[in-house]
Amino acid sequence: MGITIEISKENESALMTAIDQHLKNPGPLMPILHDAQQIFGCIPLEVQKIISRETGVTIAEINGVVTFYSSFSQTPKGKETIGVCLGTPCYVRGAQIILDTVKKELGIDVGETTDDGEFTLDAIRCIGTCGMAPVMSIGEEVIGEMSVEKVKKVLKGRRK
Ligand code: FES
Repeated sequence: MGITIEISKENESALMTAIDQHLKNPGPLMPILHDAQQIFGCIPLEVQKIISRETGVTIAEINGVVTFYSSFSQTPKGKETIGVCLGTPCYVRGAQIILDTVKKELGIDVGETTDDGEFTLDAIRCIGTCGMAPVMSIGEEVIGEMSVEKVKKVLKGRRK
């Protein structure tokens, strides 16, 4: 699932300029990836390949960094990000079932975006509202005391 992005000549040349600039400094990979995320809105494999070719860093290493840091993503983010909290208090109150339900309802896995570009799903850590566990967020909104039925209802409401 997910969306493939088109790499325009313009964006590719912006990336090349960023790479040239950062290669002059020590530790260029992170700043290059930050710029790539800005330019393309995500860092898909095609972009990782260009960075690998230009810097000599292996794809495996680049991919490891991109998947490790949540500020980077391999697919474009949706209009809204849904976060399911997997912190311990939420987890013991059924967060896994909530996450599984969201995955099933949207047909995507964690880190992916729906084909219509509406939603990106993230697994998040405690956001400080454990009193209402299990908790889910949609954009800036935090919704507590989630249940399977509530997930379905909330998503249905958002999809109208
Ligand atoms: S653990 Fe989920 S809000 Fe704290």
